Amino acid sequence: MNILVTGAAGYIGSIVVERLLEEDHHVIALDNLKQGHRQAIDSEAHFICADLGDPEILDNTFATYQIDGVMHLAANSIVPESMTDPQKYFHNNVICGLCLLNAMVEYNVNKLIFSSSAAVYGIPERVPIIEDASLIPVNPYGETKVIFEKILKWYGIAYGLNSISLRYFNAAGATSAHGEHHEPETHLIPNVLKAALGKARNVPIYGTDYETEDGTCVRDYVHVVDIANAHLNALSRIDGAGVRAYNLGNERGYSVREVVRTAEKVTGIDIPVIYEPPRIGDPPILVASSELIRKELGWSQRYPELTEIIEDAWQWQSKFPDGY
Ligand code: UFG
Repeated sequence: MNILVTGAAGYIGSIVVERLLEEDHHVIALDNLKQGHRQAIDSEAHFICADLGDPEILDNTFATYQIDGVMHLAANSIVPESMTDPQKYFHNNVICGLCLLNAMVEYNVNKLIFSSSAAVYGIPERVPIIEDASLIPVNPYGETKVIFEKILKWYGIAYGLNSISLRYFNAAGATSAHGEHHEPETHLIPNVLKAALGKARNVPIYGTDYETEDGTCVRDYVHVVDIANAHLNALSRIDGAGVRAYNLGNERGYSVREVVRTAEKVTGIDIPVIYEPPRIGDPPILVASSELIRKELGWSQRYPELTEIIEDAWQWQSKFPDGY
């Protein structure tokens, strides 16, 4: 199929492109390169450097390529930044995304796989979290994902747009070619590995008084290749899917301290930490139930172990210590 991937130069996007190409799809890779890296896009993909807010480029793209389906990953996704700059998040994640949907409707493209997030749940009433849990985000980033999922519901009803939203938990790991490189880096695992490499003096641990076993936040880390594979599962079941949303997590929670300890074992290096106040907008515990996606889309994890996830991230980060 001809698949348009937005946010194709980002961490998850680049690995989705890699997996699509491996399965012989044709990829039209769109990215504005504000956060992504040109080198992250496989040369077999057709690259378009553009912003989704540019209606002319979108129109040209849909008019030029016979696009069968869209994987929409382009977004701003840093929770703390969304707390201080919500305008950027509502503009890029909602308004620009809407421009994409409108172009799809105009060109009768009715298959969409959307990158949603565990951030839609806010502070969950129960863990593991199931898809029917209340959607009460505690940061603007999560709110943009809830709004977009609601838009998808109405576009499904009105225009027959089939959509599958994948609510990612914490993406981690790498392939041998592609890994995580954000500027600035805010995510835990790359920050821990940077400290192991001596690229940072220490790892900040944000908050030690949460109501968790060791007082630090608990997250569900899922291998980025397993996330990319879920996109392929979703693509194979999207015809007639209607409007669906699935959690995408490993179904295991690890605290910040456990992540640091596992990284120490993987790297064989003592990683210095520094204790900092909690980050605003951080829920204490996020752990998925991924039963629905396994049952309905036939997804399963190839890399469920945190050790393996960190090993892959470590291999990439040691090979490319300065990123792309
Ligand atoms: N953390 C630290 N030190 C760091 C970085 C993070 O202690 O240097 C802590 C955070 O406070 C949090 C946990 O480690 O408790 C994980 O933080 P990340 O920044 O790695 O990831 P988040 O959970 O904040 O966010 C990620 C994605 C979001 C997504 C969310 C869903 O970036 O897009 O997972 O779980 F919404």
